[in-house]
Amino acid sequence: MSKSYNAVELIRKKRQKESLSKEEIEFLIQEYTADRIPDYQMSAFLMATFLNGMNNDEASAFTKAMLYSGTVLDLSEIPGTKVDKHSTGGVGDKLSLILAPIVAACGVPVPMISGRGLGHSGGTLDKLESIPGFNVNLNLDDYRRVLAKHKMVLIGQTEEIAPADKRMYALRDVTATVECIPLIAGSIMSKKMAEGIDALVLDVKCGDGAFMKTVEDATLLAQTLVSIGESFGKQTIAFLTNMDQPLGYKIGNWLEVEESIDGLLGKGPDDIMEVTHVLAGTMIYLGKKASSIQEGIQKSKASIADGSAFAKFRDIVIEQGGDVRFIDHPENYPKSAHVSEFKADKDGYISKLDAFSFGIAGLELGAGRKKKEDRIDPTAGIVLEKKVGDRVSKGETIFRFYTNRPEALDTVHELIAKAVTISMIGPKQPQMVSHKIDKNGIMPFNL
Ligand code: URA
Repeated sequence: MSKSYNAVELIRKKRQKESLSKEEIEFLIQEYTADRIPDYQMSAFLMATFLNGMNNDEASAFTKAMLYSGTVLDLSEIPGTKVDKHSTGGVGDKLSLILAPIVAACGVPVPMISGRGLGHSGGTLDKLESIPGFNVNLNLDDYRRVLAKHKMVLIGQTEEIAPADKRMYALRDVTATVECIPLIAGSIMSKKMAEGIDALVLDVKCGDGAFMKTVEDATLLAQTLVSIGESFGKQTIAFLTNMDQPLGYKIGNWLEVEESIDGLLGKGPDDIMEVTHVLAGTMIYLGKKASSIQEGIQKSKASIADGSAFAKFRDIVIEQGGDVRFIDHPENYPKSAHVSEFKADKDGYISKLDAFSFGIAGLELGAGRKKKEDRIDPTAGIVLEKKVGDRVSKGETIFRFYTNRPEALDTVHELIAKAVTISMIGPKQPQMVSHKIDKNGIMPFNL
């Protein structure tokens, strides 16, 4: 660190829509990481950035400052093309838990560094930690060892990997500063470029339950992520995927592990499995174990059919200290103390389920955090009996809420009542994967 700046001045500059230099951005990130800029000043900077954005130079300086706030790993001693996937965040999005074992079972090493729940969206780490004993806090030697042994490893950010993002991610979660393209891009790409990968697949969610609500915004985010990845010499492919309604039938940490086990056993919901196979197939292709994405998708499906993906998941649970008895017998997992049923108020077809409200409802039930220090309840969440397109009858139970906070149930019922639309005509099923974006541009995606 060479020059020193006044943090208040830098916040004021951003507030006044002036752009910051590379050195000023580096100063903010380095000083924040070193605890010399407090959370309240960083919160003000994040909000000013949220409101006024960053130009391309600022965004690139921001990503690099976050990346070099820690170690950039070199995994070249581990054979194979290392590929990871990252999602921009959704509701019921448990894809990482299914696709990492698929891809590893197909021979491609997957070094995966994931995040916790953010805003209304769930996080892979919180889901993994709902498996009793599962340790996401491996040190970097163990990270390498487990990856070399199993071709996969699932950890959270250590103090060494993009520590600036580790702290800022938690702060953004509770300061309403998540849905901002340069902040999301810096957060995702600093982690991903640090973890030692050769190639990356991005699942850019688009719709009511995503941080990007429109195809235009999601495309812009995808293009930003792809261009950062390629600028670091990593082959990067992004997909725009639908996030208007929750993915699958289960929301909440352990509930989503349960649904992932179903997916790995060949009993997963269609929407989940469609997106999983596209992303996994692309990872297998980028990992040079298939000559096309289509062939990768076939291999992905075969790893579910022959049991190798599930076996890989069991192996990693055991290796990382998780109690595999709950993977083999999920029915034995402790239940939340309260279950409340939500019933349809008329006959018809479900035509809309606002994913964002389901995410917030999950949070109210205890599946997410409202403050940094909040503890997650692994058993809390929502089971959907019906989804968009399903026929329902008045009085029929369509959702079940699981919680240890009975005082939250009234709020959750009110929230969900506004999130469901029942119509007389059945809607069209949404296309789950709409576009592919890579260094050559954007293309509609058809299976
Ligand atoms: N995932 C991340 O890692 N960071 C974000 O900001 C959003 C999704």
